[in-house]
Amino acid sequence: MAMTPAEGRRAGIPVAERPGNAAPTRMETRRDRSLYAELAGYRVPRLAMGCMALAIEGRPGSHTAVDTIHAALDAGVRYLDTAWSYYLPGRPGTGGPGERGYGERLVHDALATWDGPRDEVLIATKTGWLRTLDSRGAYGWKADARPQTIIAQAKESAMRLNVDCLSLLYSHCDDPALPYADQMGAFRQLLDEGVVGHVGISRVGNDDIDIARSILGTGLVAVQNQFSPSSRDAGHTMGHCADLGLAFVCYSPLGGFLDSCDRSAYTVFQQIAALRDVSCQQVVLAWELSRHANLFTIPSARNPFEARDCFAAQDLVLTDKDLALLERGTVLSGAQ
Ligand SMILES: NC(=O)c1ccc[n+]([C@@H]2O[C@H](COP(=O)([O-])OP(=O)(O)OC[C@H]3O[C@@H](n4cnc5c(N)ncnc54)[C@H](OP(=O)(O)O)[C@@H]3O)[C@@H](O)[C@H]2O)c1
Repeated sequence: MAMTPAEGRRAGIPVAERPGNAAPTRMETRRDRSLYAELAGYRVPRLAMGCMALAIEGRPGSHTAVDTIHAALDAGVRYLDTAWSYYLPGRPGTGGPGERGYGERLVHDALATWDGPRDEVLIATKTGWLRTLDSRGAYGWKADARPQTIIAQAKESAMRLNVDCLSLLYSHCDDPALPYADQMGAFRQLLDEGVVGHVGISRVGNDDIDIARSILGTGLVAVQNQFSPSSRDAGHTMGHCADLGLAFVCYSPLGGFLDSCDRSAYTVFQQIAALRDVSCQQVVLAWELSRHANLFTIPSARNPFEARDCFAAQDLVLTDKDLALLERGTVLSGAQ
C-alpha cells in the first residue's frame, strides 16, 4: 500500500525517496511536463493549495481548517497561498478588528504544528485588498493599494507569519484609483528593504505585467490570474508569462468558491472523470498542469478529504485523446 510522506518520515525514509518528494519523472504528465517547478527560490510541486476558503465566509472551524492544511502538506503540497485580506470583517459584537489576519494566522499555526519539513514549504501572501461589510450584511472586497497601505500590510503579514522576509508577496489587485506604476513602486521599496524576497502580481493584463516588470525586474516572478475550464484566460496572459519566464498561478482553478460559473464547461471533465473513476476536480487539475511547465494551480479545499483528493491529481495521467477532448470541450456521445 502507498505510504504518505508523514509515514515515510516516521519510517526514516530519506527525503528524496519519500512519496511527496519523489523524483519528478515518477509522475510526469502525458506531455512530459515535470510536476515540479521553481518558484521564489523553492522547488515545489506545481499542484499547490489556496487557503481562502478556510478563512472567509462559509469557512470550516479552525480545527478542521488546520487538519485540511496538514492533509495537503502530508499529501505532498509545498506551496500555500494566503492573503492579508482572508478574514471576515467584524459585525458588531461578533468579529471586530481581531478577525484581521485570520487566514495568515491559520497558515502560520498549521505550519507550526505540522511534523513535516517546514523549510520546504513556500508561503505566499497578498496585499492591497480589504474586506467590506455593507449595511445589509453582505461581505465584499475593496482595493487599497496606496503605497503606505502596501508597505504597512506587508510588515503586518511578515509579523503574523513570523518571518523576517516574506518569500513571495503578491499585489492582490490593481487599485483603479492609482497608477499601476505607483503601486509597483511600493513593491520595489519592499524588495530593496528586504521585507520581501520575490513579488507576484494578481488580476492583471499584459500591460500591467509589462509595467511591473519594468519596475521590479527579476524581483517579479509570478502572475496569479483566474484560470479554469469556465475561465480560460481571455487576456492571453498565460502565453505572455511563458514568454517572460514568469510563473502563471491559476486562481479559482475549479471554477471558484464564491463565483457562479458556467457549469456546462465542466461536462466533458465530468465524463472523463467517470470513465477514470476519479473526481471531476482531479481531471480539471491534471488538465491545468498539462498546459505549461511553469504553471501552478492552487485549489481551495475545505476539508481533509478534498485536500487529499485534489493532490491525487498529480498521479492522474491524461491521454493525448483526453487532452484533445478537454481542449475542444467536446461532449462524448455514448460510452467509450
Ligand atoms: N488572486 C485573487 O484575487 C484570488 C481570487 C480567488 C481565489 N484566489 C486563490 O485561489 C484559491 C482557489 O480559489 P477558490 O477558493 O476561489 O476556488 P476553487 O479552488 O476554484 O474552488 C474551491 C471549492 O471547490 C470545492 N472543492 C475543492 N476540492 C474539491 C474536491 N476534491 N472535490 C469536491 N469539491 C472540491 C470546495 O467547495 P465545497 O467544499 O463547497 O465543495 C472548494 O471550496 C484560493 O484559495 C485563493 O488562494 C485568489
